[in-house]
Amino acid sequence: MSGELSPIDKAKFVAAKRAVDYVEDGMRVGLGTGSTAAWMIRCLGELVREDGLNIRGVPTSTRTAQLASEVGIEVISLDEARWLDITIDGADEFDGDLNLIKGGGGALLQEKIVATASDRMVVIADLGKEVERLGAFPLPVEVIPFGWQTTKSLLEEMLVSMDVLGRETTLRMNGDHAYVTDEGNYIIDLHLGRIGNPRQLALVLNQIPGVVENGLFVDICDIVVLGHGDGRVETRDINEGTVETDRLDFVEAENLFSDMAD
Ligand code: A5P
Repeated sequence: MSGELSPIDKAKFVAAKRAVDYVEDGMRVGLGTGSTAAWMIRCLGELVREDGLNIRGVPTSTRTAQLASEVGIEVISLDEARWLDITIDGADEFDGDLNLIKGGGGALLQEKIVATASDRMVVIADLGKEVERLGAFPLPVEVIPFGWQTTKSLLEEMLVSMDVLGRETTLRMNGDHAYVTDEGNYIIDLHLGRIGNPRQLALVLNQIPGVVENGLFVDICDIVVLGHGDGRVETRDINEGTVETDRLDFVEAENLFSDMAD
């Protein structure tokens, strides 16, 4: 079964498999959104069903909530959990300081709230997500629908004074209509090419009326678990300053591959 997986899916799987080692009995766990996070949720579900792991999960999107329930993880709201032991999520880009761009899947708002409310955020990624400078991936900004065109103009005006390469902005679409987030908002993607100062940009973006949140995660991520297509896994801990490498076996995961939809 593992032979059917592409190298990138193998990379995502081994990163997810290694990351769930951080989850212990009794923990409240933030569950990320996206294709890499879906692997992690399946791995956690297997531990719950087969090893009796006792955890409660706080999902970061409706699709993650559905998957978590399907695989047997008890789902609670952030208001019930209040604070989390750990959040495991994917990312669209990460740099050497473990700053992230997130929101490619449209769930950045809940993802940021949940990750910030966690003792530790672990990002799971494949090699393609690592960059020297953030910004090649369009930066998602969640805005309220009211007056979104004005908000878009204000974003463009603000970008003139920012250290970025490109300044194009686009409303994210879903077919003929604006893409709508779980919170009923729109997303404007900023095509910046390169972000010189992610911390400054993240702060300035959130000052613009109409902006709800942006996809820059600065000083939120603690650990990146980087998967490779051949089973190697590299774990970088920004607080400890450590890098560990390991190799995982695909065979033990075969039952997870059989109904993998994401
Ligand atoms: C969801 O809104 C995003 O932040 C995802 O975490 C991010 O897009 C990574 O997704 P993949 O794991 O599918 O690449």
